[in-house]
Amino acid sequence: MTTDRIIFSRPFRASRELSNLEAVLGSDHSHGDGRFTASATAKLKEITAAPHALLTTSCTHALELSALLLELGPEDEVIVPSFAFTSAATSVALRGATCVFVDIDEESGNIDPDSVAAAITDRTKAVVVMHYGGVAADMTRLLALSELHGIALIEDNAHGLGGSWQGRKLGTIGTLGTQSFHDTKNVHCGEGGALLLSDEILMGRAEIMREKGTNRARFLRGQVDKYSWQDIGSSYLPSELNAAVLDAQLDEFESIQAQRHRVWDTYAAQLPEWAERTGARLMTVPEDREHTAHMFFVRMPSEASRDGLIRHLAQQGIVAPFHYIPLDSSPAGLKYSRTPVPCTRSARFSATILRLPLWPMLTESQLGRVVDAVSAYA
Ligand SMILES: Cc1ncc(COP(=O)(O)O)c(C=O)c1O
Repeated sequence: MTTDRIIFSRPFRASRELSNLEAVLGSDHSHGDGRFTASATAKLKEITAAPHALLTTSCTHALELSALLLELGPEDEVIVPSFAFTSAATSVALRGATCVFVDIDEESGNIDPDSVAAAITDRTKAVVVMHYGGVAADMTRLLALSELHGIALIEDNAHGLGGSWQGRKLGTIGTLGTQSFHDTKNVHCGEGGALLLSDEILMGRAEIMREKGTNRARFLRGQVDKYSWQDIGSSYLPSELNAAVLDAQLDEFESIQAQRHRVWDTYAAQLPEWAERTGARLMTVPEDREHTAHMFFVRMPSEASRDGLIRHLAQQGIVAPFHYIPLDSSPAGLKYSRTPVPCTRSARFSATILRLPLWPMLTESQLGRVVDAVSAYA
C-alpha cells in the first residue's frame, strides 16, 4: 500500500499573504512599525484583550524583553519549569540571573504550584509560566503566590493564543505575556512574536527597549520632534514583511482555530477506547479553561512503549515527535541553574510523551489514518 506521508505540522497559508507582501514591497516602507504592524497589533489586542501589545521578532525576544523590563540581574532568581522551551531559560541566563528549575504537574505538563512555592527565596524575582499546549496552568495558585511574595509572572504563551482561564485570556493574566508566531504555531509569519502588557509604565519602557533604546515610537506619534537614546535596548521589532503575513493570518484566526479544533476533537473522541486498553493517557482540558488546539499529546505507560508507538507510526508514514528534553538536566541547565528538588515528573513526562499530527488542512482521510494507526498499536 502506498500512502502519503502525514507530517506533524504544516504552516497555514492565509489568502491575503501575497497581496499584503506585494503592498509592502511596492511601498517605500518595509522596515518595522508601518501600517501592517499597526493593523496586526490591533487584531492581536482584540484576540487577547491585552491593553497593550508590541510585535517582536520572536517569542524568544519577547521573553528577553521581559527580562530587561524586570531588570533581572546576577542577584536574582527566576523559577522556570524544567519541562519548557529553552527560551524561558536563556532569557534569564542572558541577564546573568539564575534559573531555578521546578517540577511540573504530570497531567498537564504545566508548572506545579507546590514546587514553585517550595522554591521561592528572597532572591526570587519572577516565575515563568508556560501554558503547555495552550491549556492554562493553575493560575489561581500561581497568582496567589505572586501576590503574596511580590513576584512577577511571565506567561510564555507561545502555544496559547486566544486560549483562556476562567474567562481571562492567556498572556494577559500575569505581569507580562509572550506570543510566538514561528511557523509551527497556530498563527505565524515565519518567525515572529509579541509582548502583551497592561502596565502603562512597563509599556512606555518596552517600546523604547524594543526600538534600540530610543523613543522613536513617540517620535512617530508626533509626541517628540526628534528621537534619541533613552534606555538600554535592542532591535526587537519585526519588518513590515513579517507583519504583512501576520496580519493576513490574523484575519483568518477563527477559521484556523475551527479547523484545528476539528482535528483535536476527533482525536479526543476516537482514541479513549484505545487509551483505556493500552494504559495510554490522552491530553485533557479542565472545565474552567478554553484551550487552543495547538497540540494533541499522548502519554504512554513507559519510554519503551512511547518509542515503539513513534516507530509504529513512522512505518506508516506518520510523524509523531516528542519534545523538550528537561532543561535542568541539559548541559546549559547544569551550568546556569539551581534545581532544589529533582524534577522527576518532568523527566517522566519527557520520556513518555508524543504528539500527533495537528494542522488545519489535515483531511478527514489523513485524520482517519492517524486514528487507525494509533488504534492498531497494542
Ligand atoms: C513554549 C515556547 N516558548 C517559546 C518558544 C520560542 O518561540 P520563538 O521561536 O518565536 O522564539 C517556543 C518555540 O517553539 C515554544 O514552544
